[in-house]
Amino acid sequence: MKSIYDFQIKSKEEFEIVQDKSKKYPEVFWSEVAGAFKWNSVWDKVLESDWTIPRTKWFINGKLNITENCLDVHAKSTPDKLAILWEPNDPNADSQRITYEELLSKVCKFSNGLKSLGVKKGDRICLYMPMVPELTVAVLACARIGAIHSVVFAGFSSKALSARINDSKCRVLITADGAFRGNKIIDLKSICDDALLSCPSIEKTVVFERTLKKIKWNPKTDIRWDDLIQNMSEDCLPTIMDSEDMLFILYTSGSTGKPKGMVHTCGGYMVYTAYSFLNVFQYSPGDIYWCTADIGWITGHSYMIYGPLLAGATTLHFEGIPSYPNWDRFWNICEKYKVNQFYTAPTAIRSLAKHPKELISKYDLNSLKVLGSVGEPINEEAWHWYDENIGKNKLPIADTWWQTETGGILISSLAGVTDQKPTFATQALPGIVPELVDKKGEVLKDKSAEGILTITAPWPSIARTIYGNHERYKEVYFSAFPGKYFPGDGALRDTKGNYRITGRVDDVVIVSGHNLGTAPIENSINEHPGVAESAVVGFPHEIKGNALMAYVILYDFNLKTESLKDEIRTLISNSIGPIAKPDKILFVSGLPKTRSGKIMRRILRKLANNEFNDLGDVSTLLNPEVVEEIKGQF
Ligand code: PRX
Repeated sequence: MKSIYDFQIKSKEEFEIVQDKSKKYPEVFWSEVAGAFKWNSVWDKVLESDWTIPRTKWFINGKLNITENCLDVHAKSTPDKLAILWEPNDPNADSQRITYEELLSKVCKFSNGLKSLGVKKGDRICLYMPMVPELTVAVLACARIGAIHSVVFAGFSSKALSARINDSKCRVLITADGAFRGNKIIDLKSICDDALLSCPSIEKTVVFERTLKKIKWNPKTDIRWDDLIQNMSEDCLPTIMDSEDMLFILYTSGSTGKPKGMVHTCGGYMVYTAYSFLNVFQYSPGDIYWCTADIGWITGHSYMIYGPLLAGATTLHFEGIPSYPNWDRFWNICEKYKVNQFYTAPTAIRSLAKHPKELISKYDLNSLKVLGSVGEPINEEAWHWYDENIGKNKLPIADTWWQTETGGILISSLAGVTDQKPTFATQALPGIVPELVDKKGEVLKDKSAEGILTITAPWPSIARTIYGNHERYKEVYFSAFPGKYFPGDGALRDTKGNYRITGRVDDVVIVSGHNLGTAPIENSINEHPGVAESAVVGFPHEIKGNALMAYVILYDFNLKTESLKDEIRTLISNSIGPIAKPDKILFVSGLPKTRSGKIMRRILRKLANNEFNDLGDVSTLLNPEVVEEIKGQF
């Protein structure tokens, strides 16, 4: 049997051969890669795909449990190898080093704990946790017993949490008493208590004790993590799953109000995350790999847990934030653990670049071999700062383009193997077929072109549906350009076929790497009794990439005060989370609209960016005078 490392591409020539093969014979290619994993029974058909329905199925009738491949195989062959290195928020507190054998035992114990609560295959379990090893344990325990995990980022508000719990009718909530973030303590349990006032499907709440602060306790439903696992066995047979059974749901914002529960399935997700992890980051056994994301996002799922563990890698998880206790924390951690692969977001890079270089030069960063970037377009300045100061002009930078929906990285250089180009994600991974189209869907055939990005061939880790709403899945991803997957991003291609992602082409704004639909923010602003209508747009921001600006029409214009702005921000924070608060709020008497009543967001975006002279023809608007009025307010 081949190992997944046998599929690690090591040269440009090999990349071309593999890319060619994957395009010509995708089913042969992916079935060979899939053969590197342990299956309980092998698939009888590799692929069934029809994007007019849309439907994508991989490794049909294959049976497996992903945790056997993440844990058991390594616990057997290399039991003492480190699976997780955990660095706490407080640099003086104890770190943790968890071997594959230990991680397997912890996962089995918690799996048995979940079973003792009556959790069974197909049940949805919500996780709202700090970045502690128990979060990874809980994720894998769900997967082990066939329960579907739905991790909600622990920065979301109680309303956002309850909306996600209710959408997928989760039976159990796993949380903690609180979270340490820098010098703050976030009271997670009370946020959960609030959320659960409107979540009838939750039967039990498991509480991991992290901060040991006093919390409200509901003896009928709350169970301490330690009590749950106390007498549990360290063995738990994995539940055999179908390749197309759901592995997890992860919510992402959309351009319309409700979050979308993206559904990922077991077989294809396993094959693609491991394959892309090994190839993009060029991980070698023994390396220490660090991704600074939060497990509450897809990057955490695919490249902090599943991808690395499937490859038997050592994955470093950090509980804290880059600024605590000082802005040198990342470099301190890189030195402390001799990190080899470092994967972070442009927004973090831009914040780090604001601080004195001595904070970097204090540390020995010679262990670093590969740098990565994810979450938003990386601007030229940030790319060069990263290259010069962290990469010392000699390390490859993998700018990885992908999404919650794609499950894994689709466009990126393979670090040090294929060519890189500043601000370009570069080439598609083997098996991925990008195509640029114009607004009408005409394929842009010139080598060098700029347009809308689509993907034309199925890949194993594409999200299969939106939980409970296949129609919306079809509408959002497969109706703009029938037969093609539409990710919602614009891109340009150079003459060598390198792709640069230019940003969203829909009403999603990426703020500090977080995807925020403008519609849900507008909905929460409109909840204010004084607000008649609002429109939220993004505008460029030095650190965050984009910031938000809200244009708000009040019923009574005379009520426009700073305290009303605070009330609006609080409303947004309560209904989504602090990340969605706009930087600027402008009270206006009208919004520029077309004659059919549609808000002209293009104009609002330009105004927010002070591009007053580049507004185009506004004379056809229903109310051109409001444009002048808004200009006057800046
Ligand atoms: O607009 C693209 C941007 O982030 C979006 C996906 O966001 P999310 O589902 O939250 O996943 C983020 C982590 C994978 C994309 O549609 N994006 C992500 N990576 C890049 C990027 N934009 C440009 N360059 C990237 N490397």
